[in-house]
Amino acid sequence: MEIDRRAFARALIAPLVVLPATTPAAAVALRDLVPGGWLIGVAINQNQSDGRDAIAVDLVTTHFNAISPENLLKFQSVQPQPGAFTFDAQDRYVAFGRDRGMAVIGHTLVWHSQTPAWVWAGRDGGLADRATMLERMRTHITTLVGRYKGQIRGWDVVNEALNDDGTLRDSPWRRGIGDDYIAQAFAFARQADPGAELYYNDYNLATRPEKRAGAIRIIRDLQQRGLRIDAVGEQGHWRLESPTTLEIDQAISDLRATGLKVMVTELDVNLLPQAGPPTRGQPPPGSNPYENGLPDDVQQALAKRYADAFRVFLKHRDDITRVTFWGVSDGDSWLNRGRANHPLLWDRQRQPKPAFDEVAKVLMAK
Ligand code: XIL
Repeated sequence: MEIDRRAFARALIAPLVVLPATTPAAAVALRDLVPGGWLIGVAINQNQSDGRDAIAVDLVTTHFNAISPENLLKFQSVQPQPGAFTFDAQDRYVAFGRDRGMAVIGHTLVWHSQTPAWVWAGRDGGLADRATMLERMRTHITTLVGRYKGQIRGWDVVNEALNDDGTLRDSPWRRGIGDDYIAQAFAFARQADPGAELYYNDYNLATRPEKRAGAIRIIRDLQQRGLRIDAVGEQGHWRLESPTTLEIDQAISDLRATGLKVMVTELDVNLLPQAGPPTRGQPPPGSNPYENGLPDDVQQALAKRYADAFRVFLKHRDDITRVTFWGVSDGDSWLNRGRANHPLLWDRQRQPKPAFDEVAKVLMAK
C-alpha cells in the first residue's frame, strides 16, 4: 500500500501547531492593555459616527478610548462656502465620543488639502491679500474651535506644512499670509479654546531626518513666540520596511527633545506597490496583488511589523500620549483607492487579523 507521505507528515506535526483555545483576539480590548494614561485611537468615518455601521461602532467602542474624524472636521466639510458652516454630522461625531467617554480629537484646522478654493481667492482671480486670508483663517478657527470648546480634547492646528527636505511647503496659506501663518493659526486656536491641546501634525518625520528637523524648527518658533503647543504628531503612514524601527525610535527621541509629547496620529501599513496611473479605470497590471486576500507570509510580516512598532512605542511609553489608527478595518481604509489594501488590524469581514493578536500580545507583555 502506498503511504500518503504528506498526510503522514501532517498528522505527525499536528499536535504541535494546535492554537490555544482562547486567542487574545477573542478576549481582550486594546484600551485595557495600553499603558495607563495612553490614548489608543481610531479615525472614524461618517457611517460610523452616525451609527449606521453597527459592527464598526462595536469595535470602536470596545477597543478605543479616542476618536479622530477621518474627514468631517476638515475645512471643506465644515465651511464649504464662505460663512456657510455645517455642523450636523460634526455634532454627532463629537457626541459619539462624549457618550462613550472617549477623547475626541479635532482634525484639522489649517491644511493645503481638502480646503475650498474660495478660502485663498482674491477678487482679481489671484491670491487673497494677507489681511483677508488671516481674517478667513481667524473666522474659521474661532467658529469651529469655539463651538466645541471643552468638548474636543485637542486639535491638529496645522497639518503637513513641510516639504520632505524640511523647508516650508509653498501652500496657498503660506503664499497669502507669509511664514507666520503657522503661528497665527496656533494663536487663534488658543484664543478660541484655551483649554484645548494644540498639535502640529505631519508625515515622513521618521523616514526623513531633514523633514523632522523642519518640524522641530516650527515647534521651537512657536515656543519662542510663547504660543501653546502640546504635542507633535507623526502620522505613521508606513510601509512594511520603512521606516525601520531604529528610525521610529530616533524620531520619537528627537521630537520629544523639544519638550513636547509625541503622538502617532494616523497609523496604517501600506502593503501595495506604488502604482502608476490606472488604465481605463483599472489598476495597472500587477499593481493589485492582494485582490483575493493576503498570502500568509505577508499576513505574518504585517503582524510582525505592528508588533515591532508597538515595542518601540512602549519603550517610549512616557513620551507618547496617543496612538491612533487611520481607519477601523481594511475595507474602511483610504489606502484602497480601487485596489485591495490590507493595512489595519481588522480585515474586510471585521475579523481581527494576526496583526491584532500580535499588538495585543506585545501590550500584554509590557
Ligand atoms: C484622508 C482620508 O482618509 C480620505 O478619506 C480622504 O479622501 C483624504 O484624506 N493625511 C491626513 C488625513 O492628515 O487627513 C488624510 O485622510 C490622510 C493623509
